[in-house]
Amino acid sequence: MTGQSFDWMGRRIPFRTGESLAAALDAAGIRTFGPDALGQETRYFCGIGACQCCLVRVDGVVREACITPAKPGLLVEALESRHD
Ligand code: FES
Repeated sequence: MTGQSFDWMGRRIPFRTGESLAAALDAAGIRTFGPDALGQETRYFCGIGACQCCLVRVDGVVREACITPAKPGLLVEALESRHD
């Protein structure tokens, strides 16, 4: 392990170079990514950026976790974890 990690809801998530946020979260045992605006649990589903089921906030910006590369130090949160 290289020691790279990002923050998910206060938890340090390790990842390998080239992994997506969703793959790293899945590898860490995190299968759902919190509720969306309609209260539906977001999750890793299509894996290609098509279904929008995996939306999360990355440093405050809404992104698809399945196509967003993990990078050290990112702050990743559930879509509805805060109110703007
Ligand atoms: S899992 Fe479908 S857009 Fe990410």
